[in-house]
Amino acid sequence: MIFYFSSTGNCRYIAEQIAGATQDSAVSMLGCLQRRELDLPDCEVLGIVSPTYAWGLPDIVDVFLRHVRIRSRYTFFLATYGTTPGNSAYFAEKYLGRPLDAKFSIRMPDNFTPWFDLSDPEKVAAENARADEKLRTVIAQIRARETGNFMQMEPPFFTCLVHRPAYDRLRKTSHFEVGETCIGCGLCAKNCPVHAIQMQNGKPVWVKQRCTMCLGCLHRCPKFAIRYGASYKHGQYRHP
Ligand SMILES: Cc1cc2nc3c(=O)[nH]c(=O)nc-3n(C[C@H](O)[C@H](O)[C@H](O)COP(=O)(O)O)c2cc1C
Ligand code: SF4
Ligand code: SF4
Repeated sequence: MIFYFSSTGNCRYIAEQIAGATQDSAVSMLGCLQRRELDLPDCEVLGIVSPTYAWGLPDIVDVFLRHVRIRSRYTFFLATYGTTPGNSAYFAEKYLGRPLDAKFSIRMPDNFTPWFDLSDPEKVAAENARADEKLRTVIAQIRARETGNFMQMEPPFFTCLVHRPAYDRLRKTSHFEVGETCIGCGLCAKNCPVHAIQMQNGKPVWVKQRCTMCLGCLHRCPKFAIRYGASYKHGQYRHP
């Protein structure tokens, strides 16, 4: 089983491609948590595909790995990332509570658009094409049950101390603003994985101080009305 968490589609795409190429299934970690399906049957391959958030894991992945009970013959972790997967594999191993057989990373468009610019469709398409190439290699490694650490751009181990304070700073919902173009469709509130948004007087209001900060609300708003810092200059993104 290949588990994924994905906001803008990168990890979902990777998990589905791996599952398709290895006759396995891709399963949403968020779906398992929502259905409370955490006691799972043994499987041959357990794959965890996660975005990197602040050099670590999104809180949803963290909670899933701490609570899931599943045994497997071969276990791998794969981080997608924009600049560095940080210490995400270290956290995956720690929360899963057992050693990983293999650790992979694939560079993809960085959906943290408060900082990174995804407004040029050609550059984004080129980045995704490079990711596809890398994915072919990773699939071959998984098929061959290769073991080892194949992560790229990993920083030194001591930087795992960076994750928690950095993530907590990034994921304050006070960073969000809603522009005039909002039409009150309610999609952002409906799709937030942690119910951090409520519609009040036809506009979204963040009712939690912190959220997962998946940026799904920002990237999927049909009017691009949600802003976080300079994100309004950097475009919206969804994996094609
Ligand atoms: C809150 C947040 C923090 C992020 N932190 C990092 C990071 O530390 N390093 C990095 O390379 N990419 C970082 N990213 C980029 C994502 O890991 C990357 O775009 C990922 O492929 C998105 O996956 P998805 O489309 O499945 O949601 C961050 C994205 C978000 C939303
Ligand atoms: S998805 Fe966008 S347009 Fe719809 S309510 Fe939310 S902010 Fe407004
Ligand atoms: S409020 Fe937006 S960024 Fe935060 S978890 Fe919900 S959808 Fe993701």
